[in-house]
Amino acid sequence: MEKTNFGRTADGREAFLYTIGNCRGMRAQITDFGAALVSLYVKDRDGSMTDVVLGCDDAAQYERQTCYFGATVGRNCNRIAGAAFDLGGETYALDVNDNENNLHSGFKGTSERFWDVSEHTKSRITFTMEDAHLAQGFPGNAQLAVTYEVTEDDELEISYRASADRDTVFNFTNHAYFNLNGHASGDILDHTLQLKAAYYTPVIDAKAIPTGEIAPVEGTPFDFRVAKTVGQDIGADNAQLTYGSGYDHNFVLDRDGEGMRTAAVVKGPESGIRMEVVTDCIGIQLYTGNFVDGEPGKGGVIYPKHGGMCLETQYFPNSVNEPAFVSPVTEAGKEYRSKTVYRFGRDN
Ligand code: BGC
Repeated sequence: MEKTNFGRTADGREAFLYTIGNCRGMRAQITDFGAALVSLYVKDRDGSMTDVVLGCDDAAQYERQTCYFGATVGRNCNRIAGAAFDLGGETYALDVNDNENNLHSGFKGTSERFWDVSEHTKSRITFTMEDAHLAQGFPGNAQLAVTYEVTEDDELEISYRASADRDTVFNFTNHAYFNLNGHASGDILDHTLQLKAAYYTPVIDAKAIPTGEIAPVEGTPFDFRVAKTVGQDIGADNAQLTYGSGYDHNFVLDRDGEGMRTAAVVKGPESGIRMEVVTDCIGIQLYTGNFVDGEPGKGGVIYPKHGGMCLETQYFPNSVNEPAFVSPVTEAGKEYRSKTVYRFGRDN
């Protein structure tokens, strides 16, 4: 079991980098700062190992960046309009960190704090955190856990568990930026993407809060039901695409009932690497790294605009305030569970 030093945060605390992997050579590295996925090495079509996620070299660099590279984002990922919500007759105020709204739980969400390690085997690691009542404004003393596991089928499984002593919002995601041609290979506009989603949630304006409408993708640049390159329609004359300078939208995943379903299939043409995203979530935010522009990354690499794409499985944005959306509230004493699997293969 490999555990190495990962530098120190500004307050002097030491961070660590943990490696997990399988017998076939697939490896993931995760840091306890933000429980962030730092590297993910998978085999390309020539059999060499390629690191397919963007990241940083140490904890200090993670602290400085604002892209949420690979982070475990919670208690609530994505946006909450007006940085407030009502629950059980109380109003809860959150950090205002994105226009007048809350993004990714504010200034010190789970992506900006240290997690404890409760289990580390060759193939699996579990991080836990005790999160106090009103930490970042959310109700309830909460126990949070995220487990990363690399399986012998070349999958990275990420599972979340959380419970609290009051009704609260739990909506975790991983914010990995994938570039299947390799993290240092340029942009992802040539990647092909299939999204199993016939509907998406359009946004009001550039502040990216959904209108509440569940709109068909048919006839729009948001139609990824048949695989196409990410770049094919990204520059289309479409107001929704102009708001976020590219895709930064939640898709409503096609599903019949509960359980694990394929949400997306991505291919990197240069590496031949194929990734399938399988999840029990109802939504997925496609964010094409529109605001990553000259961001320092691992090994001195500068990540360009669209240098990676995020496929953030989750409840829909602002669902705590939007009656038309499925509620992200977990009742006191009940357990929130969610799982997403990233399955890798190669096309020759
Ligand atoms: C959001 C983007 C945001 C990015 C980095 C994504 O989840 O949808 O709007 O810029 O995270 O914060």
